[in-house]
Amino acid sequence: MTETKDDTNPSRRSLIGWGGAGLALGAVAAGGAVAMTRTGDDVEPTAAETGAAVAFHGANQAGIATPVQDRLHFAAFDVDTTDRAEFVQMLKDWTAAARRMTAGKTVGDGAYGGLAEAPPDDTGEALGLKPSRLTLTIGFGPSLFAKFGLADRRPDALVDLPKFAGDALDASRSNGDLCVQACADDPQVAVHAIRNLARIGMGKVSIRWSQLGFGKTSSTTPDAQTPRNLMGFKDGTRNIAGTETDRLKKFVWVGEKDGPEWMVGGSYVVARRIRMHIETWDRTSLQEQEDVFGRDKGEGAPVGKAKERDEPFLKAMKPDAHVRLAHPDANHGSTILRRGYSFTDGTDGLGRLEAGLFFLAYMRDVSNGFIRIQRNLATDALNEYIQHVGSAVFAVPPGVRDKDDWWGRTLFSEEA
Ligand code: HEM
Repeated sequence: MTETKDDTNPSRRSLIGWGGAGLALGAVAAGGAVAMTRTGDDVEPTAAETGAAVAFHGANQAGIATPVQDRLHFAAFDVDTTDRAEFVQMLKDWTAAARRMTAGKTVGDGAYGGLAEAPPDDTGEALGLKPSRLTLTIGFGPSLFAKFGLADRRPDALVDLPKFAGDALDASRSNGDLCVQACADDPQVAVHAIRNLARIGMGKVSIRWSQLGFGKTSSTTPDAQTPRNLMGFKDGTRNIAGTETDRLKKFVWVGEKDGPEWMVGGSYVVARRIRMHIETWDRTSLQEQEDVFGRDKGEGAPVGKAKERDEPFLKAMKPDAHVRLAHPDANHGSTILRRGYSFTDGTDGLGRLEAGLFFLAYMRDVSNGFIRIQRNLATDALNEYIQHVGSAVFAVPPGVRDKDDWWGRTLFSEEA
């Protein structure tokens, strides 16, 4: 697949003739305050989504510190080809497609109007939809480094995750050579993106597992209303904000001194599919629920405090409270950027909701980040109500710099 010039390809918007109406709507939305939300008496409406495009090029990949969208489609791929040149060409083709899709454009020559004898370049289901803040973020799993002569390029920080107490991991929902995280405000835009990348990759890579998510469970924009997880608690209150340059540098982005050079400006992502025992939780008293987190359910304030953003006083919480154990003070100052989503995949054979948190967290160092905190959570009161059933870790390379750059260039070319 080759990339064609932007002006020869219709944007999703122009294809259905948004014209003036679209612009007017966008202008109102950008001004804020038009979104309707299901409000309790005490809840402010959330800021309106603009449906705009998020920049694809930059020093870091989008989809990490950029504002969290509402929907997720996360896919892990296995590599099928042994031909390095073929794999590199696929990464270039993926980049070209990602550049277009994040701008709200069709892949290649579009979904119709081309050669009648060939399948169209784009599958078409996102025609007419806005860019929806689509971000596409790629990662390379530990197993990729056993292929294509990459063994000596594997970062020391990309360690295999150890087995943690309580893990019940399903191999078919774990690991992978590559991952692509697609986040958007419209689920169809996210699913379209993964589907088209999988299609371009056919014969070279295949999807190993994928996860749909909704209702972001964390925020990188602290001024926005904090979202709630499926247990009904505000989640993401004390996250790293996308504007906290110093903390991003300290805890999220790989720095020059960290090495390897090809990862500078990148990060590491840990994905955990965490099943919640929803029915058990729903029969638990409010007091117990609040004790489990160390925060109250309504406001989200830490124990003994009045407001959500008040500084937690850890000693006022039960020793096994989630926040007390996850807090940086309990983890040698360490923390991570959480970017997870809720999921509900129907019901299991016993009539229970197959639901939980698809936990995603970005960090500069996996051992000092996720592994340290997850080990400390071994005595977490929350463990009675959850189980980790899927797991993966990936090295997330730096951003694509410009129109000539491509995903994975710093790994596959000698110059960083
Ligand atoms: C289903 C599983 C989980 C649920 C429902 C959950 C929920 C929550 C909630 C409600 C909070 C308080 C609000 C906030 O500051 O965001 C919180 C905080 C936090 N959680 Fe979790 N969490 C889960 C799993 C994990 C895991 C696996 C980790 C990391 C290994 C983790 C790390 C953290 C951290 C670092 C904080 C912030 C602590 C602080 O600085 O006060 N959580 N979580």
